Amino acid sequence: MAQHRLLFVCLGNICRSPMAQGVFGDVAARAGMADRFFLDSAGTGSWHIGNPPDPRGVAAAAARGIDISGQRARQISARDFSDFDLLLAMDAENMSSLRTLAPEQHAGKARLFLADAPELGVTEVPDPYYGGNDGFEEVLDLVEAGSRALLARLA
Ligand code: 4NP
Repeated sequence: MAQHRLLFVCLGNICRSPMAQGVFGDVAARAGMADRFFLDSAGTGSWHIGNPPDPRGVAAAAARGIDISGQRARQISARDFSDFDLLLAMDAENMSSLRTLAPEQHAGKARLFLADAPELGVTEVPDPYYGGNDGFEEVLDLVEAGSRALLARLA
């Protein structure tokens, strides 16, 4: 079975997409499928290039047994559309940025991360950056549900 290459995408690459990468990796590992995936994350913006994830997200993930502290932020580039099979946008704004950046032949690789989990009743993972710790817990809940749904579709 070929390996799926997944890129999780948000705005800053310090909150949502690092958590999504960590949680998806955890969900896949628990299902015994870690080796079926190559995972990375990127931001559409450049402000936080080289920075570790937001400490609030690191702590919230660690409380669920998931270590995202080693990730470093980077900005997405058009090359990512050839390097990855699927680019998973956290919200509609990220999705719009991906559509603008996508080479025409790879435009179909970008989708909303939560598109596989319609039962959630939300289509976007909200940006927790300017809020409190609750927002990071909500992100973890959403990306866990999204990860389970995505894994079920790809497995
Ligand atoms: P993220 O959150 O897109 O989930 O990483 C953000 C982090 C930083 C900023 C915006 C969103 N910022 O404007 O610096």
